[in-house]
Amino acid sequence: MNIIFLGGPGAGKGTQAENASEKLKIPAISTGVILREEAASGSERGIKAKSYMDSGALVPDEIIIDIIKQRVAKPDCAGGFILDGFPRTVPQAEYLEAAGINIDLVIDIDVSDERIIARMGGRRSCPNCGASYHVDYKPSRDKKSCDVCSTELITRDDDRPEVVLKRLKTYHEQTAPLKQFYVSKGKLKTVIGQEEVADTTRLTFEVINNFKQSGN
Ligand code: AP5
Repeated sequence: MNIIFLGGPGAGKGTQAENASEKLKIPAISTGVILREEAASGSERGIKAKSYMDSGALVPDEIIIDIIKQRVAKPDCAGGFILDGFPRTVPQAEYLEAAGINIDLVIDIDVSDERIIARMGGRRSCPNCGASYHVDYKPSRDKKSCDVCSTELITRDDDRPEVVLKRLKTYHEQTAPLKQFYVSKGKLKTVIGQEEVADTTRLTFEVINNFKQSGN
């Protein structure tokens, strides 16, 4: 089963993609995580990407498409995969079609801009493994280091309030049109993002289980 998680910055795509990956036993692929790893490695591509990310803009399609092309060709994707943060423009979605990469289900996590802005201030991220936490909704065990790898948690450069506003603008202009793209293909299901992570997870799995039961 190949699933896309759509939604604004901080809507909870990464959180739900990780949950679904664990339960469905298929990899979750986050283009944001891959780009941050590349930036941390100091590669030319990573440094170029970071300048776009830190300003709240999208990284050029050709860089992202190249990353996805290599990632979904890996053997662990043979039994299905989850895309978190890709596609983010109509040309990226058209690439998937042109490459013959079938998508079964697109889950849009719908959260208001006001709630996203309030949430992002509380996000803490692991600079080593990419795990994401929230000071109120998903704190790490000791509230300061990563549960997975014990690295000290940080606030991402692009979670500064002025960058969050720019990311929201970018989302509405360039990514939100994808909803109509996938509605027209009969693949889009919307989950209204809830205040509690567990409630959003429950609604997300209702969508996935309904899809499976429909015999697709
Ligand atoms: P990326 O890392 O993908 O950023 P994003 O899409 O803005 O999404 P986030 O990771 O910020 O949030 P999320 O929706 O995954 O939410 P999360 O689960 O963490 O991309 C970063 C940048 O890379 C982009 O701006 C762009 O420049 C570039 N990029 C990436 N992909 C690209 C592409 N395809 N094309 C071009 N450029 C690309 O949750 C957020 C917080 O809320 C967490 O603290 C979490 O614990 C908490 N939370 C989650 N769910 C809930 C809930 N239900 N209730 C309360 N809190 C919750």
